[in-house]
Amino acid sequence: MRTVNKDSVTQSFIDYMGDDTDDRLRFVLESLVTHLHDFVRETELTHDEWRKGLELLFDAGNISSPERNEFVLFSDVLGVSSLVDMIHSSPDVTPSSVLGPFHVLGAPQLDVGGDMLGDNEGAAVVVAGKVLSDNAEPIAGAVLEIWQTADNGLYSGQDVEQPEYNLRARMTTDVDGRYLFSTVRPAPYTVPEDGPVGELLRATGRQPWRPSHLHFIVTAPGHKTLVTEVFPSDDPYLDKDAVFGVREKLVMDYQPRDTIEALPDDLVIKQSLKGKQYYVVDFDFYLLTQ
Ligand code: BEZ
Ligand code: FE
Repeated sequence: MRTVNKDSVTQSFIDYMGDDTDDRLRFVLESLVTHLHDFVRETELTHDEWRKGLELLFDAGNISSPERNEFVLFSDVLGVSSLVDMIHSSPDVTPSSVLGPFHVLGAPQLDVGGDMLGDNEGAAVVVAGKVLSDNAEPIAGAVLEIWQTADNGLYSGQDVEQPEYNLRARMTTDVDGRYLFSTVRPAPYTVPEDGPVGELLRATGRQPWRPSHLHFIVTAPGHKTLVTEVFPSDDPYLDKDAVFGVREKLVMDYQPRDTIEALPDDLVIKQSLKGKQYYVVDFDFYLLTQ
C-alpha cells in the first residue's frame, strides 16, 4: 500500500476488509468511511480542526458515566437519533421519538384512572386515550411506560427533592384499549450543557432547550414497540427543540377545563378536581403490526 494517496486511500480502506466481513457491516462501514474521507477532502480539514474533534470525543468519554452518555447526547443534538427514528417510522402509525437519558426501569404499576399528581406542585392534567393497532382496533393489555418532569423541569433521579419514581408509572390498557391518568403539567428543560455537547451548542449559537413533553414506551404483543413523546402545541420551544424530537403528529393541546362532569368515573381524583382549573389531554397511540 506504499502508493496510497489522498484519492486512493478510500478504496484502499475498502479493499483492506477481509472476505469474512459480515455483509451489512461491510456495507455500512464502506459508506461511513467513504463519507468521512469525502468530508475531510471537501473541507480540507486541518490538523488543529481534527485534533479539536478528537478532543471533543475524548471529553465526551470522560464526562460519560452509567447515568450520563455524552455520545448519545451528541447523536441527539446532531439530529442523528431523530434521523434514525424517522427512517424507521411508518407514516401510518404514531411516530417514534428520542428515548432520552431519563427513563428508568421498575416504575410502579398504576391502574387505569390512577393518579401520578400526588403532592406535586403545578397545573393538574388528565391524560386519556387509547392504544390501537394500525387497523384502528383497540389493543387490550398494551403496556405504557410513562415518565415526565415535575413543574421545575427536573425528572426524579435528577432532583433530590422528588421521591424515587415520582411522575413515573407503568399502565396496562383496559378491555377497550383505554389508558387514563392524572398528573402535573411537565415543564421545558435544557439538555446537559456542562460538557462538550454544551460547548458545541454555544459555539454554533444554539439554545439547549427541549419543549415540555410526556414520554411513553408502548408495548403490545404482535406490535412494534413504540418509544415516543408528546408535546403541547403552545410550548415556546416547540420549533426549537435541541434534539429535533418534535413531529406534527406528536403535538397535542392542553385543553383547559373547570367542570368535572365530562371526566370518566374511573378517574381516581375526579371529585377532588371539582371547582378547580385543570387540563385535559387526549392522545391515541397507533402501533405497527408485526
Ligand atoms: C429527554 O427527553 O429526556 C432527552 C432527550 C434527549 C436528550 C436529553 C434529554
Ligand atoms: Fe425528556
